[in-house]
Amino acid sequence: MQQNRFFVRGSKQAASEFAAKVFLEAFWNSTGNFLFGTATGQTPVLTYQNFAKIHRDKAEGEPEDFADFLRFIQLDNYVSPGSSADNLPWYSYERELSESIWRVPNSGMYIPREYTGNPEKEAEEYRKLRQAQLNWANTYMQILGIGDEDGHIAFNMPGTPFDSTVHVVDLNQETITANANKFFGGDKSLVPKRAITTGIGDILKANIIVFEALGSKKASIVKKAFFEEPTEQVPASALQYYGGLLFVVLDDEAAAEIPKEAFTPMEEIDIAKTVSDFLN
Ligand code: GLP
Repeated sequence: MQQNRFFVRGSKQAASEFAAKVFLEAFWNSTGNFLFGTATGQTPVLTYQNFAKIHRDKAEGEPEDFADFLRFIQLDNYVSPGSSADNLPWYSYERELSESIWRVPNSGMYIPREYTGNPEKEAEEYRKLRQAQLNWANTYMQILGIGDEDGHIAFNMPGTPFDSTVHVVDLNQETITANANKFFGGDKSLVPKRAITTGIGDILKANIIVFEALGSKKASIVKKAFFEEPTEQVPASALQYYGGLLFVVLDDEAAAEIPKEAFTPMEEIDIAKTVSDFLN
């Protein structure tokens, strides 16, 4: 039987390069429309830089106008009362993506609107929009990070059902504190308290998932997610039920608590072949 789950580890740069190569090979080895599910946070930053670079190099001289069949869809967004389309907050995910991965030529970029006056209605619309994009796509690939302590994926907090779809969420204290420390100078009062998130059930519909975790803060939760009983208290543990092609890409620090035998050396994986055998 073909293997559909790989754990790899390396330096931060090697891990980010590997993750970027998976996207690139999936994109170039799939036929038809390609939906790239993005995540925000610190983790994918280097991956996006690598992706943009390799993609640019590889696209050089290619006659195909790949922009016509590549679209991006973002997992989640804050609800930011008082902001507007013309006045996005400085921490805006939309701004962050526009300055990084969305710069790759594409034919569509989608994100829940953070400036909506009615988040529940926006969640309902985003659910329909996601469905329309899934109908458009022949291949949907998702990148995922993980919340440091509680194991959330997108903004699915502990306790979220594994079959959940797009919904509005009240962020828990762990997430508010973690995001305050990373992005808001430690000031929790500045962190939005609500968000609109893609559900866990939606994420599990991807054909390919690249789960990425970097740094020692993630070591314990990554182990819980993949090597302990799945539980709704650790949202990422839903990935143990995932039937698509999964790459768990870790740097050495995040990999510290995982048994060595779980890993396949990066150089032994023919990414292009693995992806194309899986998709075709
Ligand atoms: C936020 C995002 C998640 C992300 C998580 C971890 O909560 N909604 O998608 O995975 O942060 O972020 P980081 O990669 O910065 O550790």
